[in-house]
Amino acid sequence: MPHLPSHSSPLTCSSTLFITLILVCSQPNRSAAAAAAANATGRHRQMSLDYYTKSCPQVEQLVASVTSQRFKEVPVSGPATIRLFFHDCFVEGCDASILISSKPGSKELAEKDAIENKDLRVEGFETIAKAKSLVENRCPGVVSCADILAIAARDFVHLSGGPYYQVKKGRWDGRISMATRVPPNIPRANSTIDQLLKLFNSKGLTLEDMVVLSGAHTIGFAHCEQFLSRLYDYNGMKQPDPMLDPKLLKALRMSCPHYGGNKDIVAPFDVTTPFLFDHTYYANLEARLGLLASDQALFADPRTRPVVQDLAKDKQKFFQAFGAAMEKMGLIGVKRGRKHGERRRDCSFHE
Ligand code: HEM
Repeated sequence: MPHLPSHSSPLTCSSTLFITLILVCSQPNRSAAAAAAANATGRHRQMSLDYYTKSCPQVEQLVASVTSQRFKEVPVSGPATIRLFFHDCFVEGCDASILISSKPGSKELAEKDAIENKDLRVEGFETIAKAKSLVENRCPGVVSCADILAIAARDFVHLSGGPYYQVKKGRWDGRISMATRVPPNIPRANSTIDQLLKLFNSKGLTLEDMVVLSGAHTIGFAHCEQFLSRLYDYNGMKQPDPMLDPKLLKALRMSCPHYGGNKDIVAPFDVTTPFLFDHTYYANLEARLGLLASDQALFADPRTRPVVQDLAKDKQKFFQAFGAAMEKMGLIGVKRGRKHGERRRDCSFHE
């Protein structure tokens, strides 16, 4: 059993501390799925790899100069941005609506202020703001925030050791950002496989896509509250989750007490290689080292287990499938044209 290495023991959220530590250390619901896929395909046709060839040919290099610097200086920007992209795409589509700030004094909060998004790290938002400002300097009013987010997420996957895949561009930024639209569209740490499948299928993603995309949990961290019930009171039984490895249970309990713990403490998803984008996530699930109940459920459920076992064996297969699934996720609900969208100069505010 892989041991919890000292540098991957639970950490606190402070960025400075992170830097120091990092240095040392079913069938789809047919109608919904078909509609989502058709939607994506229609607009997908208008998206292309060379969308900005004339208007901003250096956009990918500009974004890359920011992502590579952030990767070195603030490594948590990687997982933060990848998760930000996921949360953007699942609510209103990949349209950068997650980046909009709530209007001061308004009763209606924006997406980013929904409870489900409260743990999205600021480092992801900062990375996109920096990239956008560099791009705006060179090509004012041309490149959408949504495309910058898609490119930056891809860059971080690759910088962390994961696959490089192409990002089609041409997304416009959405105008709708409402906190109330978040809860039904973002999965929870204790979601069942049935609930997860229903949600992913409703976005036009398959069971395989879901297991593959969950492999993003090969990097990054989760707060104690996301898995606390697994440590002490699983399903109200006053017992730990029997599907959690006893040594990992002990290590996690030391950092995450049942009551009164520090709310900022986080634990790595992948206890063996927490900073490397690899396929160890799946072998960890086989070894009962999944951090969230929803991670471990992918191995427990007979529908998803074969996919987990397959990916655990074959890194190349995972990389190829992950790139393809990210491309597919990146096309969910894309907005095209002035009727549906805008191009924001500052990603956090409507024009
Ligand atoms: C399958 C359903 C999923 C569930 C239930 C889920 C849930 C979670 C939770 C609870 C956290 C920890 C948040 C915190 O405590 O700060 C998290 C983190 C993360 N998730 Fe997911 N997630 C899912 C799928 C995905 C997908 C599809 C992606 C990307 C493709 C993704 C990428 C990430 C990343 C990179 C982190 C680490 C963030 C960081 O360290 O800042 N997740 N997820």
